[in-house]
Amino acid sequence: MSVIRSLLLAGSENAWLREQATRSALVRRSVTRFMPGERQEDALRAARELQTAGMPTILTHLGENVRDASEADAVAAHYIELLDRIRAASLDAWVSVKPTQLGLDLGTDLCRRHLVRLSAHAASTGNQLWIDMESTPYVDRTVDLYRGLRSEYRHVGLALQAYLYRTPEILDSLIPLGPAIRIVKGAYREPPALAFPDKAQVDEQFYQLCTRLVAPDAQSAGAFLAIGTHDAELIARIQTHLAAQRVPQDRYEFEMLYGIRRDLQTQFARAGARVRVLISYGEYWFPWYMRRLAERPANLWFVAKNVLK
Ligand code: FDA
Repeated sequence: MSVIRSLLLAGSENAWLREQATRSALVRRSVTRFMPGERQEDALRAARELQTAGMPTILTHLGENVRDASEADAVAAHYIELLDRIRAASLDAWVSVKPTQLGLDLGTDLCRRHLVRLSAHAASTGNQLWIDMESTPYVDRTVDLYRGLRSEYRHVGLALQAYLYRTPEILDSLIPLGPAIRIVKGAYREPPALAFPDKAQVDEQFYQLCTRLVAPDAQSAGAFLAIGTHDAELIARIQTHLAAQRVPQDRYEFEMLYGIRRDLQTQFARAGARVRVLISYGEYWFPWYMRRLAERPANLWFVAKNVLK
């Protein structure tokens, strides 16, 4: 991991820096590159625009590590309202949540109650609920929560991170459930004892995990693969495998983040591939934004340009 990436990820956990950045109009302006706005309306407007351009979406309200139960209740209520508004607007927009935003730090039962309520509401509104994967202390509990939910609700998906050594083993254990899995590279600061420090190894494991989800046993169990990356080379390699295995197009899709590689998103949509864009919105953007900068430290130039403007 590069020094800059490490520093940015360490910074993402720093409360003082968060306070300063959220107050700065210049930094706030830089954030708009990755986020259509802070309000639910902003996300719904962006989802409508992308749908018109042939791209369905996933909406996520930024936030993590809530400290009291009332905050988690408010987040759950926010998502219930969002699911209703998505249905009312006839949008093809899924919803993605973070367990620590729904109270995982306060207790697994609290988080489970919220996830069950949201899964039931997603099912009743014809939507899908996806669960993000956070840093390693949360991985086992998140996988267990998913396992429990998936046995009751079909419309629930989970993100798994290719950088963790353990992920193939976790994925194997989920295959009999015919899971809906989004494979991502992984965005947190993890030690080399737990995660590949080298991009080439992460990419290789990403590829292997994708192929695992379209293997015959996974497919006959009903698995769905979401390929969450902007890495064009890796995507091309996966596409070759999907074509060779004749995986039906409704069993996988590509997913990318709002504002990143828009050229690739448009190119995919025009070519008729299913590409879904994840739109993040909300006031609590600091740690999420720092992770976006860490993924591509060249993004710091955009911040610098805004500051100098
Ligand atoms: P990589 O970092 O190798 O980048 C490939 C290319 O994409 C770069 O060369 C550049 O062109 C472009 N690019 C990538 N990031 C960029 C950025 N920030 N700014 C500008 N260009 C950029 N992580 C996690 O730990 N848990 C989760 O639940 C999720 N969920 C999730 C959902 C979806 C739909 C996506 C696309 C990603 C996530 N992630 C995530 C984030 C993921 O782990 C990873 O950090 C980012 O996707 C960046 O990695 P890439 O796969 O794009 O590859």
